[in-house]
Amino acid sequence: MSASDSPVVPLVEARDIVKRYGPTTALADGRLTVLPGESHALVGRNGAGKSTLVRVLTGLEAPDEGTVRFDGEPAPALTDRDAWRRKVACVYQHPTVVPELTVAENLFINRQPLQRGFISWRRLRGEAARLLDTWDVRVDPDARTADLKVEDRQMVEIARALSFGARFIILDEPTAQLDNREIERLFARMRGLQDSGVTFLFISHHLQEVYEVCQTVTVLRDARWITTAPVAELPRAALVEAMAGESIEVIAEQGLRERAVDDTAPVLLETRGLTSEAYENVDLTVRRGEVVGLAGSSASGKIELAEAVAGLRTPTGGTAELDGRPLKFGSVQAALEAGVGCVPRDRHEQGLVAGMSIGDNSTMTVLDRLGRFGFIGTDRRRGFATELIDRLDIHAEGPEQPVSALSGGNAQKVVMARALASDPRLLVLINPTAGVDVKSKESLLARVDSAREDGTAVLVVSDELDDLRRCDRVLVLFHGRVVAEHPAGWRDHELIASIEGVDHG
Ligand SMILES: Nc1ncnc2c1ncn2[C@@H]1O[C@H](COP(=O)(O)OP(=O)(O)OP(=O)(O)O)[C@@H](O)[C@H]1O
Ligand SMILES: [Mg+2]
Repeated sequence: MSASDSPVVPLVEARDIVKRYGPTTALADGRLTVLPGESHALVGRNGAGKSTLVRVLTGLEAPDEGTVRFDGEPAPALTDRDAWRRKVACVYQHPTVVPELTVAENLFINRQPLQRGFISWRRLRGEAARLLDTWDVRVDPDARTADLKVEDRQMVEIARALSFGARFIILDEPTAQLDNREIERLFARMRGLQDSGVTFLFISHHLQEVYEVCQTVTVLRDARWITTAPVAELPRAALVEAMAGESIEVIAEQGLRERAVDDTAPVLLETRGLTSEAYENVDLTVRRGEVVGLAGSSASGKIELAEAVAGLRTPTGGTAELDGRPLKFGSVQAALEAGVGCVPRDRHEQGLVAGMSIGDNSTMTVLDRLGRFGFIGTDRRRGFATELIDRLDIHAEGPEQPVSALSGGNAQKVVMARALASDPRLLVLINPTAGVDVKSKESLLARVDSAREDGTAVLVVSDELDDLRRCDRVLVLFHGRVVAEHPAGWRDHELIASIEGVDHG
């Protein structure tokens, strides 16, 4: 059936999209048809071409071949940014707003209301308040954007897009940095906006979210369109199969093998009375070969605590010892030297050096062991990096490719590769599988398992139950205090109840 036979003109229609980057074909057959008023999911494994399609749909890049239409009309010329802004906007995991500006300033950046040639701050604030009100976004227009929670910042970006006239909003992994409650609030707001006539394209590796918030799903695999179907007609197993190209039995359960915790193993990490603004009086021990999870909402202090152990922050009180030696706070270098490997929270800010190659990024911390500085055997390093790329299932042309050319999930794997490369005695993993596809998650978590079998102690901070399930025990933080400890084998609802604070006073 051609589009003209159809009673509804698609809001967006991309056809036969081809996009190449040098030797990489990021899209060989990209297709997407989004109908007005729906929430449409776009799913696929890491490197499948989702973000590439988004760049084409938002006019950031021209496809090598193929066409994009909005409301049946050809897309604007690439240079006509204003025309694109009236059609579509994308909200990413990392902010595209200016952190140092206020919310109002961000909303009207470059189009401030002028009064006789001068910016009228009063009008600007008023218009911002009106705009936020129209879309029911409860954020203070005078707040500094950097101080906003991720979810509020996302809503400001959505409001900004709507103010340009766009009614098609793309969310590229919006939930990757949100806790459960925040995700629920985002979904409630999406539904509200959908009722007001906004159409969404929603990208996520959390397939249950696709079922929760979308009506239609499009699957990409290896740069090609595979299928588009109502979510109600594509059960989870079929969806995973479409994504992976092979049938996969209940991926989530694979990690659940029996393990005996050796509670005579020596304690490797021990904190006493660790205190900061975010947490209070935390005593924590991790034994050799033990995997300890830290769970809690975004406000629980779990990330701050892990960051202190990894040398990224300095607590105001308390001590930590690694293998009997005091751990220095506030110095990543010192932590590294002490044997701490870390996957930080945000790969954009803390994770990778964008200009460097995959090989350089992943071996950055092990140069000492690969050879004397200045005499690094390029071959050895290349070999080492190639092995890591292989072991972690990183979808790339080779170790020479700059990490800036990697897809989001593959970049996350490079961060993991680097943390593992130093053969750490303690691994601190903060949301290690954020942005990683369902299948790659398994290979990533399997690496953690082999590290622990070699005696590495592991501290995992995560919002994902699948990451926490593999832990020997999970500590739950609530407002900065450890309120519960769950040995392996907990039920989802038990852990969620402690995280939400409904099972304790
Ligand atoms: N600027 C670039 N230069 C070279 N290759 C690129 C560039 N951008 C993307 N690629 C490649 O194109 C392919 C598709 O990447 P894309 O970012 O679209 O994947 P994705 O589906 O969004 O994956 P993820 O789930 O990991 O975010 C990848 O192999 C990636 O390495
Ligand atoms: Mg992507």
